[in-house]
Amino acid sequence: MKDDFSLYNNGQLPARRKGWDDVELLDQAQAMGGALKALKDELHRHPELSFQERRTTALLQEKLTQLGLELVDLGMETGVVALLRGGKPGSTVALRADIDAIAQQEAAHDGALSCVDGVMHGCGHDFHTAGLYGAASLLCQRRDTLPGSVVFLFQPAEEVTQGAQAMLDHGLLEKLPEKPRYLFGLHNRPELPAGTIAVMEGPVMAGKSHFTITLHGKSGHGGSPHKCTDVIVAGAAVVNALQTVVSRDTDPLDSLVCSVLSIHAGTPDNFVPDLLTMTGSIRFHQESAHQRARQRLKELTLGVAAAYGCTAEVAFHPGVPATVNGPELTLLARKAAVGLVGQDKVVSPRPDMGSEDFAVFGQQIPAFFYWLGSGVPGAENPCWHNEHFRTDDSALPLAAALLARSALLGLEAISLQNNS
Ligand code: NI
Repeated sequence: MKDDFSLYNNGQLPARRKGWDDVELLDQAQAMGGALKALKDELHRHPELSFQERRTTALLQEKLTQLGLELVDLGMETGVVALLRGGKPGSTVALRADIDAIAQQEAAHDGALSCVDGVMHGCGHDFHTAGLYGAASLLCQRRDTLPGSVVFLFQPAEEVTQGAQAMLDHGLLEKLPEKPRYLFGLHNRPELPAGTIAVMEGPVMAGKSHFTITLHGKSGHGGSPHKCTDVIVAGAAVVNALQTVVSRDTDPLDSLVCSVLSIHAGTPDNFVPDLLTMTGSIRFHQESAHQRARQRLKELTLGVAAAYGCTAEVAFHPGVPATVNGPELTLLARKAAVGLVGQDKVVSPRPDMGSEDFAVFGQQIPAFFYWLGSGVPGAENPCWHNEHFRTDDSALPLAAALLARSALLGLEAISLQNNS
């Protein structure tokens, strides 16, 4: 890609046009702040688990249709795809939010509370959904001058990291009039104060895969361990050995987590057990480090199990790739962010080892993922998936404006490339 974004050097946008001004965009977003907050609260009161987001889906379909957007039917029970066709010819860009909640009992607070026992929007996907709806509203107001189309992806089932793949499997890219050239998304970030935007080049969120280890030994009487092959002692040795996947086998400058997360073996009875299963996950930013970790995990498990007289099987289960922001879109995203909040409110914190299936779309479409500050300034802000988790909803208009601005700059960059 050519350096077309140099046009926006120092956060300066090219010649101001009606409908494209940052201040005007923010003003319009602020004006709908109350409506966005009401939508977010409505979603917050009625959280739905992955692939069960039926009420959310129906609500979004209704509201997006009222905006005048076309709905694209993927044949999925949940999730919404909406299309805005601009008044001018051009390419297509996409914006994405996730819509599902988590299985967690929300702790009481003075804001809108979940009405569903044991389910809460504990990761702020209600915030993302309302923010993307706001972006759709802002872009609808610019429909006549929009050079191209914008696709709005309201993705189900992010929490189980399956929703993005499900949308692709249901023919998302084939059912759109044109494959989007760019994709933008964001996640709230309680550690950053509302009003800030994180723009990072390179890995933002980790990739993740899962493993299952099965050990087979020989059962027998608890009083005769020498006549048995005890899988519990072997399993303990395997867990210890796996600690070296990170400490001895991974480049210290790479980020990797290799964790055993469950172990099951034995009964309360006085037997030496002969079967142990353990599960765990590998999280990574570099695919090469991931592959190396898988190889060493298998070698260590088979070798240690054999040393203890056991046999072992290792199975890997696919997860999601790392969410990685490329340099060209990072430049564009920085311009979008700086234009809205100024240089001093655009930050680049260290990446996170949590995972996001936004990355699954990112394998198909050049994509950029923001973090948007959602912490109450000066307050203690509980992290994602904590029962006290909350978002500072004064940041909702900024979420809407940032996504809308990203789409506008994306379409403009594509038309500049096409015309040069
Ligand atoms: Ni999340």
